Amino acid sequence: MQAAGEVVLSDVHLYKTVDTDGVVITRFQFKVSAEDHTKFNDDLKYDQDGDIVVSRSDDNRDVITISHEMSTVLESVGLQVWRGALLMCDYVNANTERFAGKEVLELGCGTGLTSIFVAQFAKIVYATDHGEKILALCQENVDRNVSLISAHMHVVDLNWFERLPDDRVNPNILLACDCIYDNDMTDALFRTIHCFIQRAKTQAVSRKASRGHPFLVTYIPLEKRLNFTTEDMDVTCKEYDHFKICLKELIDNTDKHAKCVVKQVFLDEIPLCFDYDRSEQLELWIVESYVL
Ligand SMILES: C[S@@+](CC[C@H](N)C(=O)[O-])C[C@H]1O[C@@H](n2cnc3c(N)ncnc32)[C@H](O)[C@@H]1O
Repeated sequence: MQAAGEVVLSDVHLYKTVDTDGVVITRFQFKVSAEDHTKFNDDLKYDQDGDIVVSRSDDNRDVITISHEMSTVLESVGLQVWRGALLMCDYVNANTERFAGKEVLELGCGTGLTSIFVAQFAKIVYATDHGEKILALCQENVDRNVSLISAHMHVVDLNWFERLPDDRVNPNILLACDCIYDNDMTDALFRTIHCFIQRAKTQAVSRKASRGHPFLVTYIPLEKRLNFTTEDMDVTCKEYDHFKICLKELIDNTDKHAKCVVKQVFLDEIPLCFDYDRSEQLELWIVESYVL
């Protein structure tokens, strides 16, 4: 793990040059899904002639414009864009029907790229992170991409070390992209995920939700960061190993009302729609929570 105060650089920005004081605006181009680009219909935008306004730059490419920093200290990594965010966008693009009409909450949203992307399809999106600067940047990016967004979108402070927001916030999808890099934070992140599962479970049980459909789905794309340590005399990824323990605890925490099922989606199952280098260290994990 990097020490506090040390500068870190996301590989997403490796080949970019910067003129200004570290803040840049990147146009992330993506290929629009070949399937029906189903957006949540209540909020479609129409022009004066009554035609639907589509912000697409040409037939099958579109752009999200994101303001971000190029390199930061570890405490401010959310001001950069990370590959987990792009992998999640790729997954959403290939599976739009899973997000259409849903209430999505992103934990540790950083610049907001993934939240903005999913807001093309979802009904409500909460882009959450902790700290004034990161939330201001995320809001700026939401405003920048408003023509792409169909969902009701809220940028909200949610610190994993504190209590959940009020129970009107009741997502059926959670996202946590590239948030596995410090074991204490991973513990706090998993406590937060567990609290959302408990909250959603209470509601699912009281409305007698179907056993065949998950009442909450949590997506965790991450990048395994390998290090050689003299302590182990080997290449290790202790943060990843800790993550796997947290995943197992989530499964073991099953009670008589609900269970969690964990799946890994392999990279070759997710078509590439954004332009970035997909390293073999990228992984996508899905936790589905069901009533019993
Ligand atoms: C590596 S960045 C990933 C940002 C974004 N999801 C992406 O993939 O580009 C990790 C994110 O977790 C957020 N984070 C770290 N600790 C947090 C906490 N205690 N509560 C909420 N967010 C936190 C950071 O602010 C940062 O935005």
